[in-house]
Amino acid sequence: KGLFTYDPGFVSTAACESKITYIDGDQGILLHGGYPIEQLADKSDYLEVCYLLLNGELPTEEQKKEFIHIIKNHTMVHEQMSHFFNGFRRDAHPMAIMVACVGALSAFYHDSLDINDAHHREVCAFRLIAKMPTLAAMSYKYSIGQPFMYPRNDLGYAENFLHMMFGTPCEEYKPNPVLAKAMDRIFVLHADHEQNASTSTVRLAGSSGANPFACISSGIAALWGPAHGGANEAVLTMLEEIGDESNIAEYVERAKDPEDPFRLMGFGHRVYRNFDPRAKVMKATCDQVLKELGVENEPLLKIAKRLEQIALEDPYFVERKLYPNVDFYSGIILKAIGIPTSMFTVIFALSRTIGWISHWSEFHSSPNRIGRPRQLYTGPKKRNYPQ
Ligand code: CMC
Repeated sequence: KGLFTYDPGFVSTAACESKITYIDGDQGILLHGGYPIEQLADKSDYLEVCYLLLNGELPTEEQKKEFIHIIKNHTMVHEQMSHFFNGFRRDAHPMAIMVACVGALSAFYHDSLDINDAHHREVCAFRLIAKMPTLAAMSYKYSIGQPFMYPRNDLGYAENFLHMMFGTPCEEYKPNPVLAKAMDRIFVLHADHEQNASTSTVRLAGSSGANPFACISSGIAALWGPAHGGANEAVLTMLEEIGDESNIAEYVERAKDPEDPFRLMGFGHRVYRNFDPRAKVMKATCDQVLKELGVENEPLLKIAKRLEQIALEDPYFVERKLYPNVDFYSGIILKAIGIPTSMFTVIFALSRTIGWISHWSEFHSSPNRIGRPRQLYTGPKKRNYPQ
């Protein structure tokens, strides 16, 4: 009695069983439904991966067509939601807006909140997949004072997102297929990553019976931190701060100094003790995008590549098995596409929503109980209140 396994940071505690995603951190392997992430990034697309994560199998052609049709049916958000945005300052961080707006969806779509009803759970998943790009783009448009753009269902998922981000009522956005493909690939690479901090948060919130929109909102909040999804924004800030290849050594030294809280952002991972397989695909995609835009000599890319090279040869990083992670190159691609830094983590949240809702659905589709970790109490012994 009173004795628990003590595992701060949950380094060696499995909190659930799951069929969705497999990671072998030592080998640098990531599989969704058994399929390697490299193959999915190359041959599949985001909506197909959404179907796979939700259903455990790739769709047939017919099933894919129907799935896309359903998602497109849900892309608009309730018109009242646009008034909700007006309560925010224009300079609000878009992640703050996302935490609020996604939670607020539960006030708009309470016709599907019975978590014990499999159909309701499915409809919530469809709504979230469909509406996240709309809300994300609205948070950006609000920040720059432009009118919200309605979704266009004649476009693909990523193209539609770019249209809502960059189109205006005065000028139609003409999606560049290379950029749209890169955007879709970023969505695929972020779609799920088993029991990371935000997914565990969603599962734990879900274990109390909270509605899915509230649970996803808790996931967005957990994702926001720089040790997790906020790292993509922090990487770009770091690369800009480094500014020149000649300053890299100084930053590497700072990252190694135990007295300095600075870390190389986009480096290291709790599970991967090898290359993050997503980082490799991201790096190749980064090269493709910059080539397409004719900016192969982008100074930030040069700094990133040199920094990677120096770190991979430095005994500090080698001994600790610290490799570039998914966030290291994604920011350079997003910046090249024209997406502001403050939107990077929002795009991570948009992509990860399918992972969160798939885990939430898996939790509710199997026997479960509320999550309730214990603690080792280290406070004062029982004492009397002063007379
Ligand atoms: N730069 C310098 N040193 C590092 C770094 C880094 N980026 N990451 C880890 N270390 C060192 C750390 O100081 C420690 O050294 P020592 O053993 O001498 O005390 C050792 O490596 C182990 O680090 P840890 O903090 O115990 O590892 P963790 O598993 O708790 O943390 C991490 C993992 C991802 C939070 C961490 O590597 C980090 O802060 N990285 C930078 C932020 C980042 O890129 N996050 C994105 C992660 S991938 C996407 C996502 O999950 O959202």
